[in-house]
Amino acid sequence: MHTLDRTDTLAGRVAIVTGASSGIGAATARALAQQGARVVLAARRADKLRRHALAITALGCDAVSVPTDVTDPDQLDRLVDRADDAFGPVDILVNNAGANWMRPVVATAPDELTDMLEVNLLGAMLLTRAVLPGMLRQRRGTIICVGSLSGRVAMEPVYSATKYGLRGFSLSLRRQLAGTGVSVSLVSPGNIRTDMTRHVQGRLPEPRVVADAICDLVRRPRREVIIPRRHTAIAWLEQTSPALADLAHRYRHWSPVQ
Ligand SMILES: NC(=O)c1ccc[n+]([C@@H]2O[C@H](COP(=O)([O-])OP(=O)(O)OC[C@H]3O[C@@H](n4cnc5c(N)ncnc54)[C@H](OP(=O)(O)O)[C@@H]3O)[C@@H](O)[C@H]2O)c1
Repeated sequence: MHTLDRTDTLAGRVAIVTGASSGIGAATARALAQQGARVVLAARRADKLRRHALAITALGCDAVSVPTDVTDPDQLDRLVDRADDAFGPVDILVNNAGANWMRPVVATAPDELTDMLEVNLLGAMLLTRAVLPGMLRQRRGTIICVGSLSGRVAMEPVYSATKYGLRGFSLSLRRQLAGTGVSVSLVSPGNIRTDMTRHVQGRLPEPRVVADAICDLVRRPRREVIIPRRHTAIAWLEQTSPALADLAHRYRHWSPVQ
């Protein structure tokens, strides 16, 4: 567990982090709190969420847990109200909740497609929509979406579709909100050691590297950052030479579609 290196860089800021019951979201909630933000942790698993919130308050930082399913618009409205009641108007939103999908499209049921879009894309759009009026009123706000390298490089069709969508939402919302005082940034991680990558062998970066990148984006908003940086090369190859990227993908991932 990371030691407390508390600063007050984000003192007085109120942050919602979705998907905060594990992995990148839990690490991000903790990192934001360590920098002085008052943090609202949201996800479905209430026990895990409460344990992470208690661990943060035990460090002398402010945190509450609000069990929330990001696919339910009523629960998202309630989340924003609960954050406001606990700490005041929300000025940081981290849209991090997400799920992975690795089955071929042909073996994916229609409702599974809908579920993936609701968790990875629609949930982030709805929660952003719910916090925006308050942020625009204050003329201050920071929205950060957790995309994926799979939103830069076409990999698993279902997962990539949701992450390309989230990337499009984030980049164009950033333009729409220019000059309003509300910033929008996207962080696109490659493989990180979390529950989501249980199946991946070998060493992977810990969630804290993404949490640190998110804290940095709160202080210095940018269009998009890829984490770890070395993956910028594959994103560049995909954009500039997609046929070459096809070959590289075939070489690394070849398997017959079942
Ligand atoms: N790990 C990687 O290699 C990697 C790489 C690129 C991008 N990402 C992205 O990073 C984000 C976090 O993933 P992770 O790696 O930290 O995996 P994780 O440990 O499995 O975390 C996923 C989080 O999303 C939450 N979640 C899932 N469905 C939800 C729903 N309907 N409502 C509310 N919360 C929901 C989960 O909480 P509950 O189950 O308690 O609801 C959990 O807290 C995801 O958006 C993922 O796509 C991860």
